[in-house]
Amino acid sequence: MAILPILVAPNPVLKTKAKPVDTVDDEIRQLMNDMLETMYNAPGIGLAAPQVGVSKRVIVVDITTEDEEPNPLCMANPEIIWASEEEELREEGCLSLPEQFAEVVRPKAVRVRYLDKEGEIRELDADELMGICVQHEMDHLDGTLFVDHLSSLKRNMILRKLRKSRSGKPATV
Ligand code: NI
Repeated sequence: MAILPILVAPNPVLKTKAKPVDTVDDEIRQLMNDMLETMYNAPGIGLAAPQVGVSKRVIVVDITTEDEEPNPLCMANPEIIWASEEEELREEGCLSLPEQFAEVVRPKAVRVRYLDKEGEIRELDADELMGICVQHEMDHLDGTLFVDHLSSLKRNMILRKLRKSRSGKPATV
């Protein structure tokens, strides 16, 4: 396993629609393992392949806390097949927008169909933190960041703050 550099916005890969995975083979499993290690190291609760510069439809999630047993979830080609009408407002952050947080409205619960590490088709019902996290990571596969759900005023404020905090520091990639 390897810790991969995480891209920070603005970066064109973060705005690109990622390509579906043909087969979950050893290369994809390696990517999933590297992404998990990178996510735990950050630390974060979710990571999408475009955030490590790989434009493929792969995400990893683990919402357990430090004192719980890890429960990693690896998904290729995740798709939302159902979303609740009920929405929820929750504060989000993103490893590609370091130290920036804002409240985002999303469906409270979703059902996701995906391929697991063995290439088996699986479905997951996710709500609360898990539901939000999966939706946030899936957004990355379509080139969408959480700030894209905000008004342009709020988005520009965050991107400006981010530029300011990054200026003078070496780039992450
Ligand atoms: Ni993110």
